[in-house]
Amino acid sequence: MATKAKSRWADDEADAALEAQRKKEKAERKRLKAGKARKLEAERQARDAAPREADSADGPPAKRRRVSPEREATQPTTGSDGPSGVPKLLRFEGGTFGRCRSVENYDKLNDIEEGAYGWVSRAKEIVTGKVVALKRLKIDPKDRGGLPITGLREIQILKDCDHRNVVKLQEVVVGDDTSRIENIFLVLEFLEHDLKSILEDMPEPFLTSEVKTLLQQLASGIAYLHDNWILHRDLKTSNLLLNNRGQLKIADFGMARYVGDPPPNLTQLVVTLWYRAPELLLGATRYGRAIDMWSVGCIFGELLTREPLLQGRNEVDELTKIFELCGVPTEETWPSFRRLPNARSLRLPTGKAATGSAIRARFPLLTSAGVALLNSLLALDPERRPTAREMLAHEYFRQDPKPKQEAMFPTFPSKAGQERRRRRETPNAPARGQQAADFGAVDFTGIFSGREREERGGGFSLRMV
Ligand SMILES: Nc1ncnc2c1ncn2[C@@H]1O[C@H](COP(=O)(O)OP(=O)(O)OP(=O)(O)O)[C@@H](O)[C@H]1O
Ligand SMILES: [Mg+2]
Repeated sequence: MATKAKSRWADDEADAALEAQRKKEKAERKRLKAGKARKLEAERQARDAAPREADSADGPPAKRRRVSPEREATQPTTGSDGPSGVPKLLRFEGGTFGRCRSVENYDKLNDIEEGAYGWVSRAKEIVTGKVVALKRLKIDPKDRGGLPITGLREIQILKDCDHRNVVKLQEVVVGDDTSRIENIFLVLEFLEHDLKSILEDMPEPFLTSEVKTLLQQLASGIAYLHDNWILHRDLKTSNLLLNNRGQLKIADFGMARYVGDPPPNLTQLVVTLWYRAPELLLGATRYGRAIDMWSVGCIFGELLTREPLLQGRNEVDELTKIFELCGVPTEETWPSFRRLPNARSLRLPTGKAATGSAIRARFPLLTSAGVALLNSLLALDPERRPTAREMLAHEYFRQDPKPKQEAMFPTFPSKAGQERRRRRETPNAPARGQQAADFGAVDFTGIFSGREREERGGGFSLRMV
């Protein structure tokens, strides 16, 4: 019959009960097997130890392996060389690797999101009944090079993070067939919503006090990441989760990485197009925390209007939209702009109309403190954007209406909690190996003459010379 599940996941209550029973029996069998394996291992270890004990009882004492040079015990441990000039080894606490548990410890409840290579599902831990989100690590099936660096970074960074505004990684689990590399799952705390789904469905925009609460939490999570040398590099509303207690958490660390100061050369192909900073679009490979702050500016605008702020169709169009909103850069507003690889050959209009910002006109209901904050987050020159900590201290959050208490935040019907898959109409984060746009090869003139005919925007044009 059609009701007999094609998939391994339950369809109705009766199926669910049967499935749960089956899972329980399987888990029990597994437990017994693991117990037996442990017993055998203990017996083997006891057997190995026995002859040594016999040695020490009857014959001469067994030789003990010297773990460290004797002089180490008597000499101070600081400095790299001992008095005899023999270099001493510095010892660091090493992490321990344990075996991952199986994904079979979880029952899938429903899909939340299914992408090209990965998926996220709501699931329940069988033993505790705790609801979690299971995220399959993104692996390109064509890439035979093992675990991608992005997956390793995502695990490492999430494992290291501990902040109330960053999603918690509970564990990493593997499928039964461990030879299949795509069988690796992150077990994350479950949150009912992502901000993008809420914004799409809500009939009225957020109140100012609610926007402030969300922005404050976002800035506080980012301040934590930046303090810990982590760049997120893909901040957008679909990567910001919200629970029913008004708590926001930053998620999706698939693009994130640790950086130093000065930052190393980094790939320019990061951040989903609509949230990508102008310096990245212009080919910067040395960039810093300011790229995340630009995305925060885009998110701020989106929270106010429920629409993504800068919806470019491609890199050139994205840059055009940025210049329309923020004005084209000048020597005063962005002194080092001409040195960026894709900026050298751009011809830009001059004059007040082209270089002025349209933010005030675009957000007529925003207070002047709000406009000042948005203007600074969307500063073309990355040096002029505030840090996350500076943002937290901004006047906007002290003005009335004050940020709403999280507990007073409205609740929304959860899409993630239902059996419902969403299809994406918005651009995704750039994939590894994808080619960054080479502006030198694009014929700017054609694109912008069409734009002029449409008589849209602030009346400027970009041209190659
Ligand atoms: N912990 C969670 N709780 C609830 N829902 C989640 C959780 N993590 C992710 N999701 C949902 O799954 C979606 C995709 O998750 P995430 O962004 O981490 O995966 P991704 O495959 O890297 O996505 P993409 O490439 O589309 O950005 C999120 O937009 C959110 O709706
Ligand atoms: Mg995502």
